[in-house]
Amino acid sequence: MLRVLVLNGPNLDLLGVREPEVYGSQTLGDIEALVAATAADLGVTVSFFQSNHEGALIDRLHEAMGECDGVVFNPGAYTHYSYALRDAISSTGLPVVEVHLSDIAKREDFRKVSVIAPVCIGQLAGLGSASYTEGLALLVGHLQKEDE
Ligand code: DQA
Repeated sequence: MLRVLVLNGPNLDLLGVREPEVYGSQTLGDIEALVAATAADLGVTVSFFQSNHEGALIDRLHEAMGECDGVVFNPGAYTHYSYALRDAISSTGLPVVEVHLSDIAKREDFRKVSVIAPVCIGQLAGLGSASYTEGLALLVGHLQKEDE
């Protein structure tokens, strides 16, 4: 069975409370429950990790090597400037789908740049929690093709 890690970066633990007009009213727990249901439908196992710390996210990506087949990742604001996370993704060689609740292409200029995107297999943004479920489906399709 394919194993997928769903990784969330800084301030995403505050979903539901944090700027609901931008990020919606679902909590991270709500989103994780939705992703778990989608994973069950797709026949894959899923684990979750959130941290507000760059190093903890890097450590979790390293641990995912050999433990997981791919990652759905919302790096939060690290998206826009963390070369360390970008290097962690390319170092592990794991396929990663970048996801965002909001449409980063239509917000402030600094959010239009993703330093993570070039090392990801795809990006889903602006769909709210559906960015996660569609991101998971994209990743699983990619992994199944690799398996053929
Ligand atoms: C976000 C977009 C980022 O720009 C922001 O810093 C976040 C959340 C999103 O899911 O829309 O923390 O990744």
